[in-house]
Amino acid sequence: MDQDAVPGIPNGWFAVGWSRDLAIGEVRRIYYFEEELVLFRTRTGKSRVLSAYCSHLGAHLAEGGRVAGETVRCPFHAWQYDGETGKCVEIPYCDRIPKKAKVRAWETMERNGMIFVWHHGEQKPPDWEVPEIPQLSDSDWAEPRTFEIEVPIHMQDMAENNLDPVHFQVVHSMLSVPDTHIDFAESGRFMHAVSYSEQETPYGTFDMELHRDSWCLGMSSVESRGIPTAGLYMFSSTTPIDRHTTVSRWAITSTNNMVDTAGEEWFTGVTSGVRDDMRIWANKIHRPNPVFCEADKLLVEFRKWAAQFYSPTV
Ligand code: FES
Ligand SMILES: [Fe+2]
Repeated sequence: MDQDAVPGIPNGWFAVGWSRDLAIGEVRRIYYFEEELVLFRTRTGKSRVLSAYCSHLGAHLAEGGRVAGETVRCPFHAWQYDGETGKCVEIPYCDRIPKKAKVRAWETMERNGMIFVWHHGEQKPPDWEVPEIPQLSDSDWAEPRTFEIEVPIHMQDMAENNLDPVHFQVVHSMLSVPDTHIDFAESGRFMHAVSYSEQETPYGTFDMELHRDSWCLGMSSVESRGIPTAGLYMFSSTTPIDRHTTVSRWAITSTNNMVDTAGEEWFTGVTSGVRDDMRIWANKIHRPNPVFCEADKLLVEFRKWAAQFYSPTV
C-alpha cells in the first residue's frame, strides 16, 4: 500500500513522558511529531520542550546540554535558550545576541502525572486544556498503575478502537456487541461514548456501562460503571512518534475496595485487555478508504470526527 496514504500528525496535547521521571535539572532527548526535541526541567521545576537543534551551529541541545536556571545551555558554545520562549538569552563570549538566535518553544502542561506537549501543524496556540482527572488523585481510589506501549501504527488507528463496538466482542471477549451511543461537546471536538453490555467482574456478572471520553484525538478515558460501590478508571494519552509509530501511556485506577476484593491481579487483567489489541495494531495497515458495511456507522462517524484535527498540508 502507499505509505503516504496515512494521515499526518494531528493537532492537540500529547504526553511525552511521566512527570515523576523528569527531575529538576534533567535534560532528555525526545523524538515526537517527527521532530527532534529537548525536554528538560528547570531549576524552578517547570518542564520545558524546545526544538533540539541550536540556531548557532546546529548542535543537539540534549546531547550534553545542561539546565542553567530557566534555560538550557548548548553543549557546543554554551548559548543559553530560555525554556518558555526558546529565545537565546545569553552568549557567554558575546554581548550582542542576534535576533534570530532562537529555537522553537513547544507549549507544555503537566497533569495527571504526565508531561504534555502541544502540537499544531500551523503552530497555532492551544485552544483547550488537558483535563484534571480527579480519580487519579483521590484517596478513595488506588494509587494509579501506569504502563506504556509503543506500536508500529498510525495513532488514529489506535484511537479508532474506541468507536469500534464489534471489536469489543471479537477481540476483548465481551459477551455481546455493546450497544453504543455517542455525543459531542466543545464545538464537536470532545466526544463521549457510552456502551451498555453484560460483563463478568470479580463481583459477578453485571449490566455495565462503559463510558469513554475523548478530548480531541489522542487523549481518552474509559470508566466502568455498574458494579455497586466500585469503579474502574483508565486515562490514556496516545502520542505520534511519527506517522507510522505511536506510544500510548496509561494510568489506571480503581476504587480501593476493588483492589481489596480482587487483588493486584485485577490490574493485570485490565492491562492485558489493552494488550489484546496489540497483535492487530502492530500488523494492520491504514485504510484511507475502507470498505464499510451497513453496521459500521460509528466507524464512519469516527473518521469524520477525526478529520478536524489535522492542519491542511501545504
Ligand atoms: S552550536 Fe550551540 S552554541 Fe554553538
Ligand atoms: Fe481494543
